[in-house]
Amino acid sequence: MYSYKTDLEKIKAMNPKGIILTGGPNSCYEADSPTYSKELFELGIPVLGLCYGAQLMMHVLGGKVEKADHREYGKTEVLVDKTSSKIFEGVSEKTICWMSHFDYISQVAPGFEITSHTDNCPCASSENAEKGLYAIQFHPEVLHTQEGSKMLYNFVRGVCGCCGDWRMDNFVEEQIKAIREKVGDGKVLCALSGGVDSSVAAVLLSKAIGNQLTCVFVDHGLLRKNEGDEVEAVFGPEGPYELNFIRVNAQQRYYEKLKGVEEPEAKRKIIGEEFIRVFEEEAKKIGKVDFLVQGTIYPDVVESGLGGESAVIKSHHNVGGLPDHVDFKEIIEPLRDLFKDEVRKAGLELGIPEYLVFRQPFPGPGLGIRIIGEVTEEKVKIVQDADAIYREEIANAGLDRSIGQYFAALTNMRSVGVMGDERTYDYAIALRAVNTIDFMTAESAQIPYEVLNKVMSRIINEVRGVNRVMYDLTSKPPGTIEFE
Ligand code: XMP
Repeated sequence: MYSYKTDLEKIKAMNPKGIILTGGPNSCYEADSPTYSKELFELGIPVLGLCYGAQLMMHVLGGKVEKADHREYGKTEVLVDKTSSKIFEGVSEKTICWMSHFDYISQVAPGFEITSHTDNCPCASSENAEKGLYAIQFHPEVLHTQEGSKMLYNFVRGVCGCCGDWRMDNFVEEQIKAIREKVGDGKVLCALSGGVDSSVAAVLLSKAIGNQLTCVFVDHGLLRKNEGDEVEAVFGPEGPYELNFIRVNAQQRYYEKLKGVEEPEAKRKIIGEEFIRVFEEEAKKIGKVDFLVQGTIYPDVVESGLGGESAVIKSHHNVGGLPDHVDFKEIIEPLRDLFKDEVRKAGLELGIPEYLVFRQPFPGPGLGIRIIGEVTEEKVKIVQDADAIYREEIANAGLDRSIGQYFAALTNMRSVGVMGDERTYDYAIALRAVNTIDFMTAESAQIPYEVLNKVMSRIINEVRGVNRVMYDLTSKPPGTIEFE
């Protein structure tokens, strides 16, 4: 992935098979918006522009982009006009796509023909097939575009002529080799949370360098109920892996630091920074440490605004939350280029048991970002208990493997209720469950009403301090999966 500021000569020197211009939040006709010179489209290299990228292509090549009267947003039926287009090979003539734009292409550039449209958008896609230029207004890269992968495949395979033989086993092999070369006989410290990402990273590292690896697991007091002990059971001395495992009980230290802090980004920064401080302390105890491993994955990088010009949505604990000063030579992030489904594939490839690989993701800042507002020990206990009940009932209903991610969050809302003839003034728990493949987009999962009802009744009866339970229906976008 390269910035739009990349020099044309550099692009030529790379001699890519194709170029994809991504979407972005700007308007291409405004002065400071990301742009590129016309020459990019004259290299004889196929170019696919998506959303902003499509508008930019039209703008630069002499078409017209204007602000629309209405924003087109959400799932939209796209009607394919040119079924012989290479992009639409094998795609239905009416296909559901994800639209998200204010600006629209009111006139295509000379040499282009419109290949699809929607009710509101006269040009949902266009092409100059002779020159290998394709512009798509909607987002084939998100899950909501039902045949989006097929369209991208058609561009990469059909137009660019790539062979599509990249496989996960190459990834694992190559990473092990690269890690060995990079690390030499250095010592490596791994930030192990017990979640899918850091577990896969840890096992990858342990396969590559064995005993040179020490895994530090910080119990920051923001883990799910009993999770600290569960992680220790798997990665500790009793577990199946050859690695040095250290558990640090830093619960009180975190609660102290988070006292009175309500702002989500401030909480994330504190939790992220404290992580690094704890590691630095552990590193000192172990002696000289050269590398720090983190289980950062690609969506973390993009959403922290480091993967190009994407707007900063939230600073992820593993990336944007890093303090400036770090007492290690270098950070190793072997999964930085992978999406979650690919991380899982890598995990299976590494022989990690399925129950670990398919464990649902848990964010680095943990319950800290599932408790709206100030984090206190009391609130942690409430959300832990509610979440444990929710997970238990989802598993009882046989839904635990089919839902992408589900958890309870503690809203900061308190409301009046009545229990056993007594007035209560307690918190509301929000239940979240989403289906997603890439975690960049998601939809709320349809959980049977009886299951939700049972969870509600158990939480109200078993968790003190809660008198209301709600189910969050919001998709991503516009929401995010976590609450903060
Ligand atoms: P959002 O809330 O951004 O979440 O839609 C997308 C996925 O990322 C996880 N997540 C995080 N993971 N550090 C992590 O390691 C973080 O700071 C973080 N924030 C969110 C989230 O659980 C979901 O799977």
